[in-house]
Amino acid sequence: MKSVRVFAPASIANLGCGFDIMGLALDEVGDVLDMSISEGDGLSITNESGVPLPDDIEKNVITPVVRKFLELTGNKAQVNVVIKQKIYPGSGIGSSSASSAAAAFGMNELYGSPLSEEEVVVCAMEGENLASGGYHADNAAPAVMGGIVLIRGYEPLDIIKLPVPGDFYCAVVHPQLVVSTKEARSILPKNVPMHDAITQWGNVGGLVAGLYSGNIGLVGRAMKDAIAEPYRKGFIPGFDDLREKILSKGSLAMNIAGSGPSVFALANKRDIAHKAGDIFDEHFSSLGIDHQVYVVKVSNRGARLIAY
Ligand code: HSE
Repeated sequence: MKSVRVFAPASIANLGCGFDIMGLALDEVGDVLDMSISEGDGLSITNESGVPLPDDIEKNVITPVVRKFLELTGNKAQVNVVIKQKIYPGSGIGSSSASSAAAAFGMNELYGSPLSEEEVVVCAMEGENLASGGYHADNAAPAVMGGIVLIRGYEPLDIIKLPVPGDFYCAVVHPQLVVSTKEARSILPKNVPMHDAITQWGNVGGLVAGLYSGNIGLVGRAMKDAIAEPYRKGFIPGFDDLREKILSKGSLAMNIAGSGPSVFALANKRDIAHKAGDIFDEHFSSLGIDHQVYVVKVSNRGARLIAY
């Protein structure tokens, strides 16, 4: 029997303009799995995280990830997974992709790394598909690879790791509002007006240029979303006022985290991120909406082995 303990980080998808094509990894917050393989043919998943998850393994994102890995590598085994630590589902910081990335990375480690990093992301995307009904990698790729990631294309998958100039911090607020990714995707239009498309691809180019050149002002200016946000911000009470307050206190940008309802502010100084966290706290407290706030550094490290 072989066993590993793996960690995969939380992540934030979209980064404003990069709907389904950009995401970043966060430091320290994430999922921990103990995984082992032995002779046989089967899968067991035990949840020791204390976070409620469905008992049916067909509803757990880990299941299609493990199956995809075994299919791609032509292996058969009894796989046992114990979930030791879990980000709350629906938190908006890539809960499903942290489990998916950890499972894909863990399987690859157990078999001596037969798959490339990109193929590990392909396995992790199976979990995203189960969770949200779509093969997107904007959480899964940063959760596997770390840093800020661009998915240049899906057919074939072409993933580019972008530079993280200096230290970036994210304040993230998770308001207790129930919005599933499936629902948040279903309200989006199937077609985008030319004017919005032009705005969006200008911003994607600007964000990539800002990250490569270290132009922090450009990074902030470019993190705007003309495509999903106009539809999704209705789920988040007071969104526009909140952004005005956050930006007035020095954050570079404020956007919906992934499909929401979490919101994040990006800052290039820790104290500014903490200020944003305080504003998030005041905002949702004044509305009587329960919430959690995290202030976390953007991390260059993705999924990894950790000590038992
Ligand atoms: N890009 C996905 C979306 C992320 O916005 O629906 C889901 O977390």
